[in-house]
Amino acid sequence: MSQRVRGVIARGKGKPVEVTTVVVPDPGPGEAVVKVQACGVCHTDLHYREGGINDDFPFLLGHEAAGVVEAVGDGVTDVAPGDFVVLNWRAVCGNCRACNKGKPWYCFATHNAAQKMTLEDGTELSPALGIGAFVEKTLVHAGQCTKVDPSARAAAVGLLGCGVMAGIGAAINTGGVTRGDSVAVIGCGGVGDGAVAGAALAGATTIIAIDTDERKLEWARGFGATHTINARESDVIEAVRELTGGNGADVVIEAVGRPETYRQAFYARDLAGTVVLVGVPTPEMTIELPLLDVFGRGGALKSSWYGDCLPTRDFPLLTELYKQGRLDLDAFVTEEIALDEVEQAFAKMHTGDVLRSVVIF
Ligand SMILES: NC(=O)c1ccc[n+]([C@@H]2O[C@H](COP(=O)([O-])OP(=O)(O)OC[C@H]3O[C@@H](n4cnc5c(N)ncnc54)[C@H](O)[C@@H]3O)[C@@H](O)[C@H]2O)c1
Ligand SMILES: [Zn+2]
Ligand SMILES: [Zn+2]
Repeated sequence: MSQRVRGVIARGKGKPVEVTTVVVPDPGPGEAVVKVQACGVCHTDLHYREGGINDDFPFLLGHEAAGVVEAVGDGVTDVAPGDFVVLNWRAVCGNCRACNKGKPWYCFATHNAAQKMTLEDGTELSPALGIGAFVEKTLVHAGQCTKVDPSARAAAVGLLGCGVMAGIGAAINTGGVTRGDSVAVIGCGGVGDGAVAGAALAGATTIIAIDTDERKLEWARGFGATHTINARESDVIEAVRELTGGNGADVVIEAVGRPETYRQAFYARDLAGTVVLVGVPTPEMTIELPLLDVFGRGGALKSSWYGDCLPTRDFPLLTELYKQGRLDLDAFVTEEIALDEVEQAFAKMHTGDVLRSVVIF
């Protein structure tokens, strides 16, 4: 058996996305079908539709989502129909070399659904980040469903499923930001503002938000930025050094994904400081740095996949902080949109009009 539902797909490089019928199989062993309630529009969805991730078109886009489990397949015990869940793209295997080393947030063999969702003609869809959630119902591996407090607003906690989690985790998990640190965040979209919020939660005393757009800087202040730099008006490296006693920040988080902003991050950090790359570059990008500076400045150059999060640990705890009023997830939701407005949401991403557009079902 299968169901026919409406979903948003990208058929080819740079082509506008379209709403079409998606065939969702009943859940097989270890799988779950989730009725999606809300799904945020992440820059990574745009990367997919621009062919910047891979060429496995057609993609079923959307991956920052919350919803209710509708049905589960054989052998599923952790979630049941009716559970309110945030979808994750890190269903850890428990058995790969990372998991066996006790570092499951690096899991190299994460689970996805074994069956494929398809178009009506049988064409298999590639779900974005192994999820695909701009669709009324989606098929995932049951481990991709993380139960959270069902009284939380779906549009807000769904964002923990990707961008906001990636940002918070880039600061706290990957960057190791702690009390008294100085932190600079380059690029203040949903991911960068997640990093700002994460730095604030961790007790950083100086939090410098950097963007080319004044509206983004204004929003970043709301998440806890103590200073802002407009990258169009100032030399970013100089400005960060000025705000940190001439030294540079302890942790600099790059949330754009470009060589020039990575270079700024590299030189805006203090000696022995940490750079965290959470922005996603495209295949043609390269970077050249004096090797002596890489050596001489010491510290750590890290990248952060999904904020090195562990969904089972981090989603419920961040939902709890949200419920307590200590993490303003609602402030990330600039607008609620319909399924057929994803293409417009991509355009707004470019003009800087939104932090997150969230599709509501
Ligand atoms: N590592 C991960 O797990 C992960 C997860 C989700 C998203 N991402 C990536 O993170 C990046 C940001 O995603 P997002 O959804 O926040 O995107 P976004 O488009 O909402 O935000 C990007 C921000 O960067 C700003 N910006 C652009 N050029 C700049 C420059 N030269 N200097 C300073 N700021 C600049 C933009 O004004 C915008 O505010 C993307 O590359 C996305 O693919 C990574
Ligand atoms: Zn593993
Ligand atoms: Zn994402």
